[in-house]
Amino acid sequence: MSNFTDREFRDALSTFGTGVTIVTARDGDGAPVGMTASSFSSVSMNPPLVLWSAAKKALSGEAFRDAQHFAVHVLHTEQSDLSNRFAKTGTDKFSGLDWNGDANSVPELPDVLARFECSQYAVYEGGDHWIIVGEVTSFEHMSGKGLLHVAGGYASARTLRPSSSEAAE
Ligand SMILES: Cc1cc2nc3c(=O)[nH]c(=O)nc-3n(C[C@H](O)[C@H](O)[C@H](O)COP(=O)(O)O)c2cc1C
Repeated sequence: MSNFTDREFRDALSTFGTGVTIVTARDGDGAPVGMTASSFSSVSMNPPLVLWSAAKKALSGEAFRDAQHFAVHVLHTEQSDLSNRFAKTGTDKFSGLDWNGDANSVPELPDVLARFECSQYAVYEGGDHWIIVGEVTSFEHMSGKGLLHVAGGYASARTLRPSSSEAAE
C-alpha cells in the first residue's frame, strides 16, 4: 500500500512535461483504433525502438496489446483539439477525419509533426498499463513546433538555450 493518493501521484507526475502523440492501429476486426498518449518515449537507436503505455482499461487497450503494427503520430501546436478528440473514450474518433489506410494497414493521420510506423517488438505488463515496445520500420517528420502537455494543460515550448550533446544524452 502506498502512503499517497492517486491524485497526489498524478500531480507530481504532471510536473514532467511531455510531447503529445496519437497512436493508431487496427483491432482484431480491422476497425481503426486510436488514442492520445503522452507516455511515448525513445528506447534504442540500434535496433530503432520506441515505447508507449496503454491503459488496460481503455476500450482499445487489448487491441493495442495485440496489434502487430501501429503508428505513433507526434502532434504540433495547432492540434490540441485532435488530441482531445482521441482522448475521449467510446466515441467514433475517426469520423469525419481525413485519414488513410486500407483494411489491412495502420490508420495514418495527415498533417502531423512526425509519424513513426512500428511493428510490435515486445509487450510487458506494467501494473494497470501495457508497455508496448515498437521497432520503427519507417518514419517521416516536418519542421514545426510540437504540442506539449504539462501540469494538466497544453503548452508550446520556447527554447531557452541549446543543450550540450552530453547533457542531452
Ligand atoms: C495529453 C493526454 C495524454 C494521455 N496519455 C495516455 C497514455 O500515455 N496512455 C493511456 O493509456 N492513456 C492516455 N491518455 C488517455 C487516453 O487518451 C484516453 O483514456 C482514451 O480515451 C482512451 O481511448 P479508448 O478508451 O477509446 O481506447 C492521455 C490523455 C491525454 C489528454
